[in-house]
Order: sequence, then structure tokens, then C-alpha cells
Amino acid sequence: TYVIAEPCVDLLDKACIDECPVDCIYEGERMLYIHPDECVDCGACEPVCPVEAIFYEDDVPDEWATEPTNYTKANVDFFEIDVNGEGPLGSPGGAAKVGKVAADPQWIKDLPPMGE
Ligand code: F3S
Ligand code: F3S
Repeated sequence: TYVIAEPCVDLLDKACIDECPVDCIYEGERMLYIHPDECVDCGACEPVCPVEAIFYEDDVPDEWATEPTNYTKANVDFFEIDVNGEGPLGSPGGAAKVGKVAADPQWIKDLPPMGE
């Protein structure tokens, strides 16, 4: 799978969404997340992000692939969050119909404002 990391936080450029052939890039409150099971590893999203926030899973910089800022894990955990008591997103099979989700993993919520 591909992974979205810190440069996306509070920017949410969304150029990546238009490139994804399987619509597996989902919008949270502060960043977007790639569904680890729905992503088909085509690589189309990676070059279009203007801030280079997207990486193949093996290429995520260490600081963003390990605690306490593990974005690789955040791209998994986002889909397990209970959203407003309605349960987790799970694997919806397409982000367009889901729209913006009012959720982020707690440590992402707690990050200081980015991109000032
Ligand atoms: Fe974020 Fe880059 Fe996509 S900033 S929304 S990963 S184009
Ligand atoms: Fe989608 Fe391909 Fe990226 S499946 S998330 S555009 S690697």
C-alpha cells in the first residue's frame, strides 16, 4: 500500500484524489488517508502531491513510520475509528460516496497546527 504522511496535515491539497483509479483515498478532518487494503499500489498518486506527502509503504521516512508519529499506522487506524458512535468505516470500497469524515486518530488531532 501507499501511505500519506505529515506534509498533508492541515493542507489537504487533494490533487491525489483525482489520480486514484480505485478511489481509495479518504478525507479526515486534518489529512487524507489511503485505505491499506483497497490501494492497488499503482503509484499514480505519489508524484502529484505538491508537498511529497505520499510514499510507498517501504519508503516512508523512519520518523513517519515509527512511534510517536507513525503515519503508516495512522493510515490503518483511521478506518478503525468509531465515527460518531456509528462504528468504523471499515472498507467502504470508494471514498467519493463517503465524503469528508469527521475523524482522525487521536494523536493526529493533537498535533500542533501545521503549515503556518
Ligand atoms: Fe494530501 Fe498531498 Fe493528497 S497534501 S490530500 S496527500 S495531494
Ligand atoms: Fe490509489 Fe494507486 Fe495511490 S491505488 S492510493 S493512486 S497508489
